[in-house]
Amino acid sequence: MSIRKISHIGIAVRDLGPQVALYRDVMGLELLGVEEVADQGVRVAMFRVGESTVELLEPLSEASPIHAFLEKRGEGLHHLAYEVEGIEGTLAALERGGVRLIDRQPRLGAHGKRIAFLHPRSTGGVLTELCE
Ligand code: CO
Repeated sequence: MSIRKISHIGIAVRDLGPQVALYRDVMGLELLGVEEVADQGVRVAMFRVGESTVELLEPLSEASPIHAFLEKRGEGLHHLAYEVEGIEGTLAALERGGVRLIDRQPRLGAHGKRIAFLHPRSTGGVLTELCE
């Protein structure tokens, strides 16, 4: 198993516009881009913070899991993502260690990366993503 670093932190927002203005113009972070990830029903704005990124997630429709999250919990921290080497092997090792997986196989996420989610019930309440 090789977890390399924090890849990104995902934050759920209702409206990207004012949040992009905050992160870019007030906080002075570099906006790397805005991308739609149809698979997850979100529009994502990515900001560089050193070696990691902060990703603001806005739901594209009421079918988006981010919409459901916002209804239940409001805006805020949504998930933490680790960059790993060998995502299949890492998933298998975590499962052997008793971690409940949401994705048993990696799927395609933002920036063409392969991603998989771990269930927050087995990771201390934090929705955790692996990406490679
Ligand atoms: Co993510």
